[in-house]
Amino acid sequence: MIIVAIDGHSSCGKSTMAKWLARKVGYIYVDTGAMYRTVTLFAIRNGFITPDARIDEEGLKKALNDVEIGFQLDPNTKLPLACLNGEVVEKEIRGMEVSGLVSPIAALPFVREKLTAQQKAMGEKKGIVMDGRDIGTAVFPQAELKVFVTASAEVRAKRRFLELQEKGEKNLNYDEILKNVQERDYIDSHREMNPLRQAEDAVVLDNSNLTIDEQNQLLLKMFEERKG
Ligand code: DC
Repeated sequence: MIIVAIDGHSSCGKSTMAKWLARKVGYIYVDTGAMYRTVTLFAIRNGFITPDARIDEEGLKKALNDVEIGFQLDPNTKLPLACLNGEVVEKEIRGMEVSGLVSPIAALPFVREKLTAQQKAMGEKKGIVMDGRDIGTAVFPQAELKVFVTASAEVRAKRRFLELQEKGEKNLNYDEILKNVQERDYIDSHREMNPLRQAEDAVVLDNSNLTIDEQNQLLLKMFEERKG
């Protein structure tokens, strides 16, 4: 068994392909973005972050010691659902409120330390597909397969728009979503601790012009080559 690390920009389809591969080959799937989103939801609910992104770092740091960020398997789909202290929060963490505040929370070193340690432990037995921003560089620098996924900001904003529309989110504005995608790209790539960057030994997969099936097949081919 191997470790598959999938990194890339927001809304570039990482999770879709990571989930697909994990199911196809019977590996565990971990969406690390969901973990940062869950911490963000916790911070919002408890007043540690304001709508204009002012953060009470001291308060959040202390409170996080007693917070459990994890996953539960959906009995029907068998896919992991994000949990905050045992409560399934999958729907809450995907909305615009959390999306708008997650990057500054994910830039906090104490948040990254907590979640990175947890992610490393999840991969101890290998047989895992993990997606995020720093998986191939910081969480599993030893991963046998590293993929860096990308697509243009416009293509990604369009996909995100359709995804939110499908989920029934109202009052969607494409320009606002594009701005959110670009802002997140900037913060994720410029933060001090473990910024988004391509690992030297990662394979780049630009899926701007690929269908989901085409990208899945490419990923499977890479997996077959690396799994030994
Ligand atoms: O993949 P996503 O859009 O759900 O990620 C949400 C945010 O979390 C994104 O702004 C970057 C951050 N993130 C991170 O910093 N490190 C990771 N390994 C995963 C996500």
